[in-house]
Amino acid sequence: MSDPKLTKAVDSICDQFIVTKSKISQLTEYFIDCMEKGLEPCESDISQNKGLPMIPTFVTDKPSGQEHGVTMLAADLGGTNFRVCSVELLGNHEFKIEQEKSKIPTFFFQDDHHVTSKDLFQHMALITHQFLTKHHKDVIQDYKWKMGFTFSYPVDQTSLSSGKLIRWTKGFKIGDTVGQDVVQLFQQELNDIGLSNVHVVALTNDTTGTLLARCYASSDAARAINEPVIGCIFGTGTNGCYMEKLENIHKLDPASREELLSQGKTHMCINTEWGSFDNELNHLPTTSYDIKIDQQFSTNPGFHLFEKRVSGLYLGEILRNILLDLEKQELFDLKESVLKNNPFILTTETLSHIEIDTVENDLQDTRDALLKAADLETTFEERVLIQKLVRAISRRAAFLAAVPIAAILIKTNALNQSYHCQVEVGCDGSVVEHYPGFRSMMRHALALSPIGPEGERDVHLRISKDGSGVGAALCALHANY
Ligand code: GLC
Repeated sequence: MSDPKLTKAVDSICDQFIVTKSKISQLTEYFIDCMEKGLEPCESDISQNKGLPMIPTFVTDKPSGQEHGVTMLAADLGGTNFRVCSVELLGNHEFKIEQEKSKIPTFFFQDDHHVTSKDLFQHMALITHQFLTKHHKDVIQDYKWKMGFTFSYPVDQTSLSSGKLIRWTKGFKIGDTVGQDVVQLFQQELNDIGLSNVHVVALTNDTTGTLLARCYASSDAARAINEPVIGCIFGTGTNGCYMEKLENIHKLDPASREELLSQGKTHMCINTEWGSFDNELNHLPTTSYDIKIDQQFSTNPGFHLFEKRVSGLYLGEILRNILLDLEKQELFDLKESVLKNNPFILTTETLSHIEIDTVENDLQDTRDALLKAADLETTFEERVLIQKLVRAISRRAAFLAAVPIAAILIKTNALNQSYHCQVEVGCDGSVVEHYPGFRSMMRHALALSPIGPEGERDVHLRISKDGSGVGAALCALHANY
């Protein structure tokens, strides 16, 4: 028998996660305002600007797919993994890639380990060395490697090959990296282990890589119908980029802007860092659980509040906090579950099993997932309610995820630029790729957004997997050093 008090409490929590059509419209308009504000010159300190970060990437062209050249290296520090690749662009939308991915050791995320910036970049240099020893032993020392470095955190980028970390996101907290040029830090460690022949020539973000890789992959015939216009990530974190007209990027140093215009450049890719949308909480839907996670459990309280409602790092943590609250109200018994004292123990993968489980199956996959992840035994009635909560959390995330996409399409007028009016959005990240129903819920929200059902039909969300390899190599290809 289900407990009516628990059912009532769960229903009222689920109601707090509803994002209505009018909320989507309000957020979309506000997102456009925040983009415009973010393109204005920053007063002094970039972290104080109230708009979106809107970071100029110094990438001014979208690739055609015909780019080719020498084999280049790419390194990618993401939210969970560090990846090193060598990439050879062959033209004709083709490429050859060798790669190694390793989990970032958990102690880099823990406060009590006193890790320094040097420890992190040294670790990355060592893995790069191992990669070269394994895959390119014959040329390791006497080949001049160009490397594109995908560093997916907010940086104050001042050229294609330099940028200072503004703040960490996605769980890192290594204090002495903030304010430092991450290219110099990496180059220093590469030099110190004898890899001074590896030149980090381009600094990029996973979103930029995703957009460039999507453009490279897309055939000329496909491009004539669907132009890739946005690169986005919905994974551990969330972010997006797009091409902005140079004349609108008022924050660019006027001399560099003039120089680019005189070279015939018209656009620059902007890394919006949309994870930081509405840190002031003017319009973002906010529950007591969001506030608690931000303030008590996140490593960057007050920042990246949009990300904390949308990205994979946080969805399980929202569920954990709801269950803790229900226990506090004496409506639910967590028994001896490890959920109590372990923030972030529930992963999005656990939620994805619960999301698609069925009543016909007695919600047994849910039972197994909760036992495995948190040693939590549940009754069928409890599982029904937990599934309701999971679906409310993921639906809010996907509905919010549609907001930046609608906003960028409207701001750039992308849906009215070509005869067929169709566009592509290159997407990467575990949530958009694997979370059941995430993309279709996003589409639903796009149809409710100001672009309407007609606009939604013209948007193609395409998974683009090679951002940190091909995308970074494309950035490195044109870099001078
Ligand atoms: C975080 C980072 C951002 C990155 C995103 C997706 O939001 O700040 O730079 O692109 O995660 O990985």
